[in-house]
Amino acid sequence: MKRVLFVCLGNICRSPAAEAVFAAKASAAGLAASVDSAGTGGWHIGGPPYPPMIAAAAARGYDLAPLRARQVRRADFDDFDLILAMDRATLAELSALRPGGNATPLHLMLENAPGCGTDEVPDPYYTRDFDRALDLIELAADGLVASLTRSG
Ligand code: 4NP
Repeated sequence: MKRVLFVCLGNICRSPAAEAVFAAKASAAGLAASVDSAGTGGWHIGGPPYPPMIAAAAARGYDLAPLRARQVRRADFDDFDLILAMDRATLAELSALRPGGNATPLHLMLENAPGCGTDEVPDPYYTRDFDRALDLIELAADGLVASLTRSG
Protein backbone atom coordinates (compact mmCIF):
# COMPACT_ATOMS: atom_id res chain seq x y z
CA MET A 1 0.00 0.00 0.00
CA LYS A 2 1.45 3.32 -1.12
CA ARG A 3 1.36 6.19 1.35
CA VAL A 4 1.11 9.49 -0.54
CA LEU A 5 1.29 12.99 0.95
CA PHE A 6 0.18 16.08 -1.00
CA VAL A 7 1.62 19.43 0.10
CA CYS A 8 0.84 23.08 -0.69
CA LEU A 9 1.16 26.36 1.19
CA GLY A 10 -2.00 26.66 3.27
CA ASN A 11 -3.44 23.11 3.12
CA ILE A 12 -6.89 24.62 2.51
CA CYS A 13 -7.11 24.67 -1.32
CA ARG A 14 -4.79 22.65 -3.55
CA SER A 15 -3.44 19.85 -1.36
CA PRO A 16 -6.76 18.87 0.26
CA ALA A 17 -8.25 18.83 -3.24
CA ALA A 18 -5.38 16.63 -4.44
CA GLU A 19 -5.86 14.31 -1.46
CA ALA A 20 -9.59 13.84 -2.12
CA VAL A 21 -9.28 13.60 -5.92
CA PHE A 22 -6.44 11.07 -5.76
CA ALA A 23 -8.21 9.02 -3.06
CA ALA A 24 -11.34 8.80 -5.22
CA LYS A 25 -9.45 7.90 -8.39
CA ALA A 26 -7.23 5.33 -6.64
CA SER A 27 -10.26 3.71 -5.07
CA ALA A 28 -12.09 3.60 -8.41
CA ALA A 29 -9.02 1.97 -9.97
CA GLY A 30 -8.69 -0.61 -7.19
CA LEU A 31 -5.35 0.83 -6.11
CA ALA A 32 -4.71 0.57 -2.37
CA ALA A 33 -3.36 3.88 -1.13
CA SER A 34 -3.16 5.81 2.08
CA VAL A 35 -3.42 9.56 1.50
CA ASP A 36 -3.00 12.75 3.47
CA SER A 37 -2.21 16.40 2.83
CA ALA A 38 -0.37 19.18 4.66
CA GLY A 39 0.75 22.77 4.26
CA THR A 40 4.17 24.34 4.64
CA GLY A 41 2.45 27.24 6.45
CA GLY A 42 0.68 26.97 9.78
CA TRP A 43 -2.05 29.64 9.50
CA HIS A 44 -4.96 27.27 9.03
CA ILE A 45 -4.03 24.37 11.35
CA GLY A 46 -7.15 22.52 12.50
CA GLY A 47 -9.43 24.35 10.09
CA PRO A 48 -11.49 23.01 7.18
CA PRO A 49 -10.63 23.60 3.53
CA TYR A 50 -11.51 26.98 2.04
CA PRO A 51 -15.29 27.08 1.38
CA PRO A 52 -15.04 28.03 -2.34
CA MET A 53 -12.71 25.07 -2.88
CA ILE A 54 -15.07 22.77 -0.97
CA ALA A 55 -17.88 23.95 -3.29
CA ALA A 56 -15.90 23.60 -6.53
CA ALA A 57 -14.77 20.10 -5.55
CA ALA A 58 -18.27 19.08 -4.44
CA ALA A 59 -19.56 20.05 -7.91
CA ARG A 60 -17.25 17.32 -9.26
CA GLY A 61 -18.23 14.76 -6.64
CA TYR A 62 -15.32 15.14 -4.19
CA ASP A 63 -16.03 15.70 -0.49
CA LEU A 64 -13.41 17.96 1.11
CA ALA A 65 -15.58 19.07 4.03
CA PRO A 66 -14.28 16.55 6.63
CA LEU A 67 -10.61 17.39 5.99
CA ARG A 68 -8.63 19.49 8.47
CA ALA A 69 -5.46 21.44 7.82
CA ARG A 70 -2.13 20.51 9.33
CA GLN A 71 1.43 21.65 8.86
CA VAL A 72 4.01 19.40 7.25
CA ARG A 73 6.58 17.93 9.68
CA ARG A 74 9.94 16.23 9.34
CA ALA A 75 8.45 12.87 10.37
CA ASP A 76 6.32 12.95 7.20
CA PHE A 77 9.43 11.97 5.27
CA ASP A 78 9.48 8.67 7.18
CA ASP A 79 5.71 8.21 7.29
CA PHE A 80 5.06 8.46 3.51
CA ASP A 81 6.40 6.68 0.41
CA LEU A 82 5.86 9.63 -1.92
CA ILE A 83 5.52 13.37 -1.31
CA LEU A 84 4.06 15.63 -4.01
CA ALA A 85 4.30 19.43 -3.97
CA MET A 86 1.81 21.69 -5.74
CA ASP A 87 4.41 24.30 -6.75
CA ARG A 88 8.14 24.98 -6.82
CA ALA A 89 8.20 27.11 -3.65
CA THR A 90 6.60 24.25 -1.73
CA LEU A 91 9.05 21.78 -3.27
CA ALA A 92 11.97 23.98 -2.16
CA GLU A 93 10.62 24.24 1.41
CA LEU A 94 10.16 20.48 1.55
CA SER A 95 13.70 19.88 0.31
CA ALA A 96 14.99 22.11 3.10
CA LEU A 97 12.91 20.25 5.70
CA ARG A 98 13.98 16.75 4.59
CA PRO A 99 15.95 14.94 7.34
CA GLY A 100 19.52 14.00 6.45
CA GLY A 101 19.77 10.56 4.90
CA ASN A 102 16.08 10.40 3.97
CA ALA A 103 15.42 9.30 0.39
CA THR A 104 11.62 9.49 0.12
CA PRO A 105 10.70 10.48 -3.45
CA LEU A 106 9.71 14.16 -3.55
CA HIS A 107 8.28 15.60 -6.78
CA LEU A 108 6.04 18.23 -8.25
CA MET A 109 2.42 17.02 -8.55
CA LEU A 110 2.28 18.06 -12.20
CA GLU A 111 5.16 15.76 -13.14
CA ASN A 112 2.28 13.30 -13.31
CA ALA A 113 0.55 15.40 -15.97
CA PRO A 114 3.19 15.79 -18.68
CA GLY A 115 1.95 17.97 -21.51
CA CYS A 116 -0.46 19.98 -19.34
CA GLY A 117 1.59 23.10 -20.12
CA THR A 118 2.76 24.00 -16.62
CA ASP A 119 4.58 22.43 -13.70
CA GLU A 120 2.77 24.31 -10.93
CA VAL A 121 -0.85 24.25 -9.79
CA PRO A 122 -1.71 27.98 -9.60
CA ASP A 123 -2.90 28.90 -6.10
CA PRO A 124 -6.66 29.49 -6.38
CA TYR A 125 -6.65 31.33 -3.05
CA TYR A 126 -5.09 34.13 -5.09
CA THR A 127 -6.17 33.40 -8.70
CA ARG A 128 -9.78 32.60 -7.64
CA ASP A 129 -9.80 29.98 -10.42
CA PHE A 130 -10.76 26.88 -8.45
CA ASP A 131 -11.74 24.96 -11.57
CA ARG A 132 -8.37 25.50 -13.24
CA ALA A 133 -6.67 24.07 -10.13
CA LEU A 134 -9.07 21.11 -10.09
CA ASP A 135 -8.55 20.46 -13.83
CA LEU A 136 -4.79 20.18 -13.30
CA ILE A 137 -5.15 18.13 -10.12
CA GLU A 138 -7.52 15.66 -11.83
CA LEU A 139 -5.12 15.23 -14.76
CA ALA A 140 -2.17 14.62 -12.45
CA ALA A 141 -4.17 12.28 -10.22
CA ASP A 142 -5.06 10.20 -13.29
CA GLY A 143 -1.37 10.08 -14.24
CA LEU A 144 -0.34 9.16 -10.71
CA VAL A 145 -2.90 6.33 -10.47
CA ALA A 146 -1.65 4.99 -13.81
CA SER A 147 1.98 5.20 -12.77
CA LEU A 148 1.44 3.58 -9.36
CA THR A 149 -0.70 0.86 -10.95
CA ARG A 150 2.18 0.07 -13.34
CA SER A 151 4.85 0.13 -10.63
CA GLY A 152 2.75 -2.07 -8.30
P1 4NP B 1 -3.26 26.55 -0.76
O1 4NP B 1 -3.77 28.07 -0.85
O2 4NP B 1 -1.77 26.61 -0.57
O3 4NP B 1 -3.64 25.96 -2.07
O4 4NP B 1 -4.00 25.94 0.41
C1 4NP B 1 -3.51 29.00 0.17
C2 4NP B 1 -4.46 29.25 1.13
C3 4NP B 1 -4.23 30.17 2.12
C4 4NP B 1 -3.03 30.86 2.16
C5 4NP B 1 -2.06 30.61 1.20
C6 4NP B 1 -2.30 29.67 0.21
N1 4NP B 1 -2.81 31.83 3.17
O5 4NP B 1 -1.75 32.50 3.11
O6 4NP B 1 -3.62 31.97 4.08
